[in-house]
Amino acid sequence: MVDAERFIEEATAEIREQVGDAHAVIALSGGVDSSVAATLAYRAIGEQLTPVYVDTGLMRKGETDEIRETFSFMESLRVVDAEERFLDALAGVTDPEEKREVIGEQFIREFEREATETAADYLVQGTIYPDRIESEGGIKSHHNVGGLPDVVDFEGIVEPVRDLYKDEVREVARELGLERVISERMPFPGPGLAVRVVGEITREKVEVAREACHVVEEELEEYDPWQAFAAVVGKGTGVKGDNRVHGWIVAVRSVESRDGMTARAQEIDWETLQRIQSRITGTNENVARVVYDVTHKPPATIEYE
Ligand code: XMP
Repeated sequence: MVDAERFIEEATAEIREQVGDAHAVIALSGGVDSSVAATLAYRAIGEQLTPVYVDTGLMRKGETDEIRETFSFMESLRVVDAEERFLDALAGVTDPEEKREVIGEQFIREFEREATETAADYLVQGTIYPDRIESEGGIKSHHNVGGLPDVVDFEGIVEPVRDLYKDEVREVARELGLERVISERMPFPGPGLAVRVVGEITREKVEVAREACHVVEEELEEYDPWQAFAAVVGKGTGVKGDNRVHGWIVAVRSVESRDGMTARAQEIDWETLQRIQSRITGTNENVARVVYDVTHKPPATIEYE
């Protein structure tokens, strides 16, 4: 385990030394990794840092407002509303890796514009150790690794949490005094809800996934999962009132893990599962059924795509 206090001291000193009087930008995602990286960098260089939050339209429910509030002490925070552009770019794309590519490219475009405007010399990233391992191993392309530096001509990249595991990042977050909603937050994939919608992404499917994820996060909080979420996995037949409907199938997943590389599906009691089912089908008449995923990783991955 990392000595959080000492880590913070060393990391801020290192950032200060690396960046000096120059300007830096960071893409805030709402997750604990980029939040910790941003807070460390802000402590080190203050308003020389411009945090940029791109609302891709694929974020968790209420996330954009939370970001504005949590980081309101950073006056330089920029929030970009890019939902329309992301959905347009994703129209017709069904392959999981292609989705990641399209999202990565769109993200770079959005971020590049902001970074150019701020004339930043350095890029700060919240890359953590497992991100590097999985990317290097070619298991899945993680859009927060590798892509950005190639396009914008930065003088240097600053990755203050590159050697930490997730639980160590959380410890640093607590030591930094970040709110629980950030420090204890479940990991959320860079491509967001796009990997929780199997097949083509539409505004409707994203909305179903967003609401269902919110229900699952609320209902399973007491199980303290590593990740708990819902995904729109296809269509199936159901009955609503007197009618047969062809509606969405929502899969619920809750896993325990240390670093996301392996995971165990959690055993959830029947009553809780039923409450989740009834809230998800009750709030959306186009959801025909809810299923619970009992597969560990391996053989399944955590996300659906
Ligand atoms: P999988 O689904 O590969 O997920 O078992 C392992 C961990 O990584 C997250 N994940 C991603 N994170 N970009 C990310 O930044 C991605 O493309 C991506 N795909 C999966 C997933 O949520 C889990 O924590």
